[in-house]
Amino acid sequence: MDLGLKNRTALVMGGTKGLGRSIADALAEEGTALTISGRDQGRLDEAAAALRAKGATSATGVVADVASGDAMDHLADAAVAAMGSVDILVLNHGGPPQCTASEMTEDQLVKWFQHIVVSPIRIANKLLPAMRARGWGRIIVVGSTGMQQPIPNLALSNTLRASIWAWLKTMSGEVAKDGVTMNVLAPGTIHTDRTNESAAATARRKNIGFEEALAERLAEAAGQIPAGRVGTPGEYGPMGAFLASDKAGYITGSMIRVDGGRIRGMV
Ligand SMILES: NC(=O)c1ccc[n+]([C@@H]2O[C@H](COP(=O)([O-])OP(=O)(O)OC[C@H]3O[C@@H](n4cnc5c(N)ncnc54)[C@H](OP(=O)(O)O)[C@@H]3O)[C@@H](O)[C@H]2O)c1
Repeated sequence: MDLGLKNRTALVMGGTKGLGRSIADALAEEGTALTISGRDQGRLDEAAAALRAKGATSATGVVADVASGDAMDHLADAAVAAMGSVDILVLNHGGPPQCTASEMTEDQLVKWFQHIVVSPIRIANKLLPAMRARGWGRIIVVGSTGMQQPIPNLALSNTLRASIWAWLKTMSGEVAKDGVTMNVLAPGTIHTDRTNESAAATARRKNIGFEEALAERLAEAAGQIPAGRVGTPGEYGPMGAFLASDKAGYITGSMIRVDGGRIRGMV
């Protein structure tokens, strides 16, 4: 399917690897111009070269840590300077640490509120006026199925993502008439570096080897997933490209799950 994304420009945050990268890969295959962000210029340059090789009209990497609001302003300016506009904005970042609700501290809440809520809203607010003026725009939040069914040991993620979801739902209603759609693309368990990091944390906690912890983690997740396995980044990114396309112009204010059927509820 030609998604008509050849003349579009996209800023994909957290685009060096994992889920952000999977959306960037899918957009690159459609010939979209890309700017990606992350924390390390070397990793960004490597990813940008790979995206150009996949078909991106252009690909530029910009260092911008979501811990800083000012970095979000710089990132928005750099993306517009590199591509002339930002038609598609993918809001994404690294995931917060695991903790239960009883363990969660106020310092953690404040720190991750910046990453998950304040910085994404700041950069969206900077780029939305031009999207609305042009009458076309797409905002996609890389979310989590924890936004529909809280995950017991991810209290920080559950708590703060509820806020970005409420913001997206509210803002999507304000900009829909201007041709701007806003959706959450919610992964269940997709095997990325984050999965490996959480296995490494389990290995340290239980004093077992990494491979054993990873096998345990994947088997435990698979047991809760009707598909019987965790997903791959290649099964996640293409839905991001679809949501970014003209063909998805009537889908807004929605949460789309890519979870192998993990969420059993009917909403
Ligand atoms: N994978 C899953 O199954 C899953 C499930 C539910 C929710 N999620 C959520 O989806 C998001 C992405 O997860 P992932 O699995 O793709 O993780 P990942 O493989 O660790 O990738 C994270 C991306 O974000 C960038 N990043 C990390 N910290 C950053 C910071 N402070 N500022 C700017 N960029 C930063 C990383 O780039 P650099 O390292 O190059 O800076 C990388 O490109 C996370 O919020 C995660 O919690 C993932």
